[in-house]
Amino acid sequence: MEKKFPKDFIWGGATSSYQIEGAWNEEGKGPSIWDVFTMIPGKVNHFENGNIACDHYHRIEEDVALMKKIGLRAYRFSISWPRILPAGRGQVNQKGIDFYNKLINELVANDITPWVTLYHWDLPAALEFEINGWLGEEISDAFAEYADVCFAAFGDRVKNWITINESWVVAILGYGLGVFAPGKKSMDYPYQAGHNLLKAHAKAVATYRQKYQSTQHGRIGITNNCDWREPLTESPADKAAAERALEFFLAWFADPIYKGDYPPCMKERLGSRLPSFTAAEKNMIKGSSDFFGLNHYTTMYAADATHNREKGSVYGNGGLSEDQDVNLSVSPDWKMTSMQWAIVPWGCKKLLMWIDARYDHPEIIITENGCAFNESLVEGKVDDHERIQFFQGYLAAIQEAIRGGADVKGYFIWSLMDNFEWALGYDKRFGITYIDQDLTRIPKASAWWYASVIEQNEVI
Ligand code: GAL
Repeated sequence: MEKKFPKDFIWGGATSSYQIEGAWNEEGKGPSIWDVFTMIPGKVNHFENGNIACDHYHRIEEDVALMKKIGLRAYRFSISWPRILPAGRGQVNQKGIDFYNKLINELVANDITPWVTLYHWDLPAALEFEINGWLGEEISDAFAEYADVCFAAFGDRVKNWITINESWVVAILGYGLGVFAPGKKSMDYPYQAGHNLLKAHAKAVATYRQKYQSTQHGRIGITNNCDWREPLTESPADKAAAERALEFFLAWFADPIYKGDYPPCMKERLGSRLPSFTAAEKNMIKGSSDFFGLNHYTTMYAADATHNREKGSVYGNGGLSEDQDVNLSVSPDWKMTSMQWAIVPWGCKKLLMWIDARYDHPEIIITENGCAFNESLVEGKVDDHERIQFFQGYLAAIQEAIRGGADVKGYFIWSLMDNFEWALGYDKRFGITYIDQDLTRIPKASAWWYASVIEQNEVI
């Protein structure tokens, strides 16, 4: 059987600004909602924060040299909006521009292609206070203004743009369950936030297409996250529940972009709680992604809960469960990562085929996939064979999806290095590089394994 990936397949690693940069108040950076959120006792495990994180802000050369050593061909990172625009709008912070210029230049000089995310959750705090963050009507224009500054400053060298990372997480965890910044809790806010996220994405894309794409020749898209939902039984009710769960998860954000509106099942169930788009907005959103960015981590079983609703665990049920009537579960046979996420490679293949069918064969870039384990340093080395097995399984599943017809063009490991895992702090080690107490970077066994896969372009 053919083991190789397509020749031009993109092999990369991913990070995000708040999770690695540190330098939270240096050189003119404004506060983000994560800077503020982490100051509230009880919000983050061990009261940790990203004030120093991996100190990447001061270690560009070292970190790019690390990527080069590992053999990465592409590097996905995010720009911190309040580092560029400390108050969210208006005054630009030149030092912030200088920092990303230095990073991008270093990458390009080392033949590593930059993939840049504009929003990976660190909203300028000013915008949360002044215009109600993602719930505010003005946020989409503010985002487009920020995106414009980035395209103008970096677009001569950056040819791959991602507008927003995981709208589902922003909406559900930030504005529904309140476990991520800005910590709001509501049954209705997520739909409003999601609506504004889509409009913000589309306005940034329109700006890029109108002002920059013809001269800069880059591509722009959005990254959404989705787990696979497998029907618990063969019953039509469970099959419908699994489909519904995928629609409330991924189609919520992908249908407007690929089909021009929210999925019918969400419109029916939510009624006026789901905002509606004007005809002009639908036009602007439809077709606004040059590729299908996907972050994928795990799989759960889905069962119909119309007559048997499990109350309470809204997060556990993958969104606002009351709105979906779906109960989720895992098999006791599935191996778990330290996030308690099940390792189910075939779920990845099924999800890729589902996307391929529903959205008419889009080009898919897996912008995140990975796992956390509690490994430690033993005599200067980390033996993370479980992570290697994880990658072997998922990459083999992706190959099967490609053979099955899905147009998967790239794969970014989450993450290049262990980092600040949001509300869970530093306990969860997702990296292929271990970060020691004194912030020394030590590539794990998986880093060398990945390097050899990239080199040989094959999985097993
Ligand atoms: C994603 C997120 C990353 C990372 C990862 C692991 O949802 O984009 O920032 O934290 O999950 O949990």
